[in-house]
Amino acid sequence: MNRKRFMQSMAGLVAGAAVMPSNPLKEFLPTAKAWPAVAPDDENFWKFVREEFPLTHDRTYFNTGGLGASPYAVIDAVKAKMDELEKISETGHTEALWVEMKTDIGRLLGCNPAEIAFTRNTTEGVNIVANGLPLRRGDEIITTTQEHVGNAFTWLALQKRAGVVLRFFVPSTNSQQENIDRIQKLINARTRLISIPHAATTTGLFLPVKEIAEMARAKKLWFFVDGAQTAGMVPFNLHEMGCDAYATSGHKWLMGPKETGLLYVREGMLDTIDAKFVGAYSDNGFDFLKGTFAFNPQAQRYEYGTVSIPLRVGLHAAVQFIQRIGIENVWKRDQALSTRLFNGLQSIPGVKVLSPADDAMRSAMITFMHDRVPYLDVERHLDTLHFRTRGVSEGGLAALRISTHIYNMPDEIDRVIEGVRTV
Ligand SMILES: Cc1ncc(COP(=O)(O)O)c(C=O)c1O
Repeated sequence: MNRKRFMQSMAGLVAGAAVMPSNPLKEFLPTAKAWPAVAPDDENFWKFVREEFPLTHDRTYFNTGGLGASPYAVIDAVKAKMDELEKISETGHTEALWVEMKTDIGRLLGCNPAEIAFTRNTTEGVNIVANGLPLRRGDEIITTTQEHVGNAFTWLALQKRAGVVLRFFVPSTNSQQENIDRIQKLINARTRLISIPHAATTTGLFLPVKEIAEMARAKKLWFFVDGAQTAGMVPFNLHEMGCDAYATSGHKWLMGPKETGLLYVREGMLDTIDAKFVGAYSDNGFDFLKGTFAFNPQAQRYEYGTVSIPLRVGLHAAVQFIQRIGIENVWKRDQALSTRLFNGLQSIPGVKVLSPADDAMRSAMITFMHDRVPYLDVERHLDTLHFRTRGVSEGGLAALRISTHIYNMPDEIDRVIEGVRTV
């Protein structure tokens, strides 16, 4: 990071502190609020959590896979930081704040703060990785047939521009061994990279990322994980996962402000994934006239230029909100809700659930179709009943997806099951 700039901005904030309360943000942080004891088996605890969100009760929101709702703690943190900074007209970009935020985020994701870059969304992270890797014409990339556009488009563009070749497998919802075998079959002497989602946007299938990482390591392949659908939903540890890079969104399961994202790049990969978009904060000193410069030694190198500090502070508040509940408890709740939904949908004649039957392979997104009613009509029907769901057309599917997160309640699950029954 450009320390001089950081010092200047820190000095600016210190100067501003004379007219500001010492930490105006503090009172809004979830840690400062009176919470009941965390009791994941008590419905009253989850009712309390539900009311921490301004999310309307007039309709039921089942599209966290598209966009997560933010709690007041996040919204208030953004507003407070904006109020604070607009009073002094400073960016608020300080090294101390960056270290504090990335340390908490690293704790949640299981990596070092130095391996995290703030981005705008998953798509930006995918672009940094795809365009930064030294891929050449003819190099092959193994990916799935069910990528989200935010991922697929990046690789398609690279295929056109750089002549890389995409090789596809259809993700199996039956067995993880099938997924491993399908990838194995595609590996040849030209393969350089495996790029897959942690959880598929289509069916919510968890892919066996640890086993795939081992396979990639053994074959000396790079391994990139699109984590748009897992950060904030399920506990994991990026170091244990063993991928080279992982991109996610702050505005989905993490419930952070919109237009926030995170990119993890394993320390040993920082010099391999070239930082292509660079500027202030990407460097570790430079001399423009002599033509010398050094990248910031950390993933910070992928950040550049003036950014919104209130949005990043809001993302930090979102991570603190999740940590307050405990990511294991979040996952337990999300999984209980989605299993309830899975079982209910399975019991409806004419409904085919596309998400895996194996609990260990299934995330908190359940996708289904009706054998007589087109999915868009099912979506419309549920919309009239005030349920927000999401159509799935990726990979040639024609289905409907329901995401369940901590602001959803069991009675909402029961009502949407009834809604599908009456379609
Ligand atoms: C698997 C996957 N990758 C990437 C994206 C794009 O996310 P963003 O719009 O935050 O870049 C999504 C969004 O739903 C997704 O599901």
